[in-house]
Amino acid sequence: MRTLIHSAAAALFAVAAFTLPAVAQSAKVDPAVVEKAVTGMFGHAPAAWQEKIVQDETQKACSLHRNAPPADVAKAISAREEKNVVLPADGKFLGDWKSGEKIAQSGYGGRHTDDPKREVGGNCYACHQLSKKELSFGTMGPSLVEYGKIRKYKDEDVKAAFIKIYNAQAVFPCSNMPRLGHSKHLNEQQIKDLVALLFDPESPVNK
Ligand code: HEC
Repeated sequence: MRTLIHSAAAALFAVAAFTLPAVAQSAKVDPAVVEKAVTGMFGHAPAAWQEKIVQDETQKACSLHRNAPPADVAKAISAREEKNVVLPADGKFLGDWKSGEKIAQSGYGGRHTDDPKREVGGNCYACHQLSKKELSFGTMGPSLVEYGKIRKYKDEDVKAAFIKIYNAQAVFPCSNMPRLGHSKHLNEQQIKDLVALLFDPESPVNK
């Protein structure tokens, strides 16, 4: 009997798991219902995380338009996001590609079990190919192989890469790439090191 109840519960769970996303994608779903479900799921998250559950204006607009904002909304998003990019005070965008490589290959940080004293990673490899030799990488983002080489190591592209990593949505509204500088996940030096990874001719990206 117990097994029967368990399998019935499992079946119900499976049905719920498969039908819920379908509901969420229907145009008629009330955003307040989604909001309540999401905040409910994170109800026991540490206090410092609670603010992450609250969407900012850009996130709200992207949710509302299902990541396909109309032109005027897209323009407003990139204008707003561009404003919060803090460019390096020393005007230098290139750091150390070797540190950049470590940051790009690390997904450490941001979990409540992570040691806050250890350096966090950018998790770039989870979405991008970064070198021809890499065996395993994610493909949600485009391959970044030969990124600097293709762009002839031009200064304006170096600066654009800094802005991209700092706040992907300043360049591509509702991008699936996290706003790594804006969210303070990565600091200025780490972003410079990542720009060097993309633009140093000696970096594995350009080999
Ligand atoms: C969750 C997935 C994800 C992660 C993690 C991620 N990206 Fe991206 N990235 C994307 C997607 C998707 C795009 C394409 C859309 C866009 O341009 O925003 C992109 C675009 C880019 C571009 C522009 C590519 C072009 O064609 O000019 C650069 C540069 C880039 N990412 C660098 C990085 C770096 C460096 C990191 C690590 C700090 C990183 N990304 C982490 C998903 C990701």
